[in-house]
Amino acid sequence: MASHLWQSIFRHPYDGSKRTRYLQTAANVFLHLHPVRISPAAVRFTYTWGLGGLSFFLFILLTISGAFLMFYYVPDSRRAYDDIKDLGFVVPFGQFLRNLHRWAGHAMVITVWLHMLRVFLTGAYKRPREFNWVLGVVSLVATLLLSFSGYLLPWDQIAFWAITVGTNMATSTPGVGNLLQVLILGGSRVGQNALLRFYVLHCLVLPLILAVVVGVHFWRVRKDAFSASGAGEKIDVWPHLASREFLAAVSALLVLVVWSLVVNAPLEQLADPHATPSPAKAPWYFLGLQEMLVYFDPWIAGVLLPLVIIFGLMAIPYLDPNPHGIGVYTFATRRWAVTAFLFGFGLWVLLIVIGQFFRGPGWTWYWPWESRAVAKAISGKTWNFPLPVGIALVGLYYTLGLYLPRRLRPDVFASLTRGRYCAIWMLALTMVALPIKMLLRLLFRVHYVVATPWFRV
Ligand code: HEM
Repeated sequence: MASHLWQSIFRHPYDGSKRTRYLQTAANVFLHLHPVRISPAAVRFTYTWGLGGLSFFLFILLTISGAFLMFYYVPDSRRAYDDIKDLGFVVPFGQFLRNLHRWAGHAMVITVWLHMLRVFLTGAYKRPREFNWVLGVVSLVATLLLSFSGYLLPWDQIAFWAITVGTNMATSTPGVGNLLQVLILGGSRVGQNALLRFYVLHCLVLPLILAVVVGVHFWRVRKDAFSASGAGEKIDVWPHLASREFLAAVSALLVLVVWSLVVNAPLEQLADPHATPSPAKAPWYFLGLQEMLVYFDPWIAGVLLPLVIIFGLMAIPYLDPNPHGIGVYTFATRRWAVTAFLFGFGLWVLLIVIGQFFRGPGWTWYWPWESRAVAKAISGKTWNFPLPVGIALVGLYYTLGLYLPRRLRPDVFASLTRGRYCAIWMLALTMVALPIKMLLRLLFRVHYVVATPWFRV
């Protein structure tokens, strides 16, 4: 019989019988996030790869390690850098704590991306989970912004210039650039006001938003039922799923602890607004956007295209009319969707890899084996299409792109309403336009296809 203390906390004895397992799961707020019983297919590691759970675990780990870091760090540009240095030299386990926080942050960006990929490939965004996919995209954006806002806090050269590059893209938006600059930086450049804003966003506002959105996300996973279902009798969440979640969390923690003991988070010289490093690189997950600066105006690369990507991602469940392929990895019944998504995902990874490994001083192309110390001439002369030709080419590209698919494959697109068809193809054509523009630049030195005084693409 359970003791008085046990009963006051857990309500029911744990004797391992089916009935008490049900009662335990329902009476425990954390376990109650799960259903009581699930299909055996849902606990298969090779279905979820534990990625949603790992993202959540990393979020908790980041919150705890971040709270410890807050004891030692003051967001004052005159002492922030020294506070970070002290973590390495004065504070017991300070360097380890900083490493753990930094590496868990990078890991979370990766696990959230991969979780999205798995949800897409298993068709888990389709009815009735459309809105949970939208909440997922909001969590992804919040995760990226959390990581980005934390980047500035060490106040070293990498931090200062990464944030300068990142925010310059937003603040060059025509019309609202100045307003955005004042809102984001609290002034005209990265300084004390920006540091305080990024600190408050990083430590308070964004974690709060993410916690609420992820809370609703979990609740919807529970309400909408998990996508993987299969034949066979259902199994109890406790212990079948709970033990797997525990194992995944412990393994991730182990890897991160070892990694943090071996590899230190980078810290360069104190931030110097007068010494621009060449190249000044954005954080790695925004390098895709920075690479797009080569091909488009800064506000198109830094504001318009990200907005198209975010809203395009949110729209996927409402645009994809195909009801097949929910709860399984399949290509056969979802050829178009899977190809398009993998193309976009691969393109994004490619842009990041180019930005990280193939760009050197002056953002010129360097092969990985070429020394960055040897200066290269900034890439040679480029040319623009004459304006009427450029407009005609872009017009033709979108008109034919919209007209031909329906003409050539009426059987595939007949079921789509005109609005859905146009939205899908506008997004797909814009995505394909990016590598076309890259090739035009790299092979034929075309700078802009359409160059007007207001925008250039
Ligand atoms: C901080 C970020 C996130 C956390 C902590 C999180 C967490 C989770 C967890 C724990 C699950 C249960 C199953 C699993 O592990 O796969 C889940 C399911 C789901 N997630 Fe996320 N998620 C996040 C971001 C996202 C993103 C970026 C998307 C998509 C854009 C997304 C869409 C979904 C959907 C649709 C489900 C239901 C899947 C199904 O029924 O198979 N989530 N999420």
